[in-house]
Amino acid sequence: MKNHDLVEKNIGLMTVLIIFAISFGGLVQIVPLFFLKETTEPVEGLMPLGALELEGRDIYIREGCHVCHTQMVRPLRAEVERYGHYSVAGEQIYEHPFLWGSKRTGPDLARIGGRYSDDWHKVHLFNPRLVVPESNMPAYPWLYDNVLDGRHTERKMRALRRVGVPYTDEDIEGAGERVKGETEMDALVAYLQQLGTLLTEKR
Ligand code: HEC
Repeated sequence: MKNHDLVEKNIGLMTVLIIFAISFGGLVQIVPLFFLKETTEPVEGLMPLGALELEGRDIYIREGCHVCHTQMVRPLRAEVERYGHYSVAGEQIYEHPFLWGSKRTGPDLARIGGRYSDDWHKVHLFNPRLVVPESNMPAYPWLYDNVLDGRHTERKMRALRRVGVPYTDEDIEGAGERVKGETEMDALVAYLQQLGTLLTEKR
């Protein structure tokens, strides 16, 4: 009781003790995170994107596809019925940056991989109205004409490796040569066709 009086009547001492208590609580939560290599386990079979898919992803970003399309199936009945298994963190740990998006002018694309043929995607991207007459998605005809030169592919992969994407030297070596000459259309479709294919069942 006496000690308690001392603390209550001595504001300086109380301040010191409060700071100590809060810091201790904070450290207990924060310090262990510095010793964890990863807080999220990758889903089974997760691989970094191949060179062509990686170039496709950059085209997806450049063309602003993520402005109209999310890549995030929420864990709600209606979403799972429509798109498939809800998105999990372990699918996305190699994503820099994430492309979850927040606005759905078009449908979610997190599980679009394998849903349509490559040809369907190419026609659709060339002019969406050819396959979906009521579509208001923009056309991207130049993707057929633009050809990749692969000049930056290896450097992009090295940069991603630096932030934790496990590319091997073999993955990176010659990656630019492997994508050189491919059209942007092929790269984008390769990217779309692998999206969300690791978790296939509905729930
Ligand atoms: C202005 C908004 C907008 C932009 C930008 C946009 N889309 Fe779309 N997208 C839509 C709409 C609306 C639909 C639904 C109608 C349709 O299928 O065309 C759609 C449909 C799709 C579908 C079919 C999805 C399904 O489940 O049937 C794919 C694949 C797709 N878009 C890919 C892309 C890609 C790749 C890009 C970037 C190159 C892109 N979209 C840019 C609005 C957009």
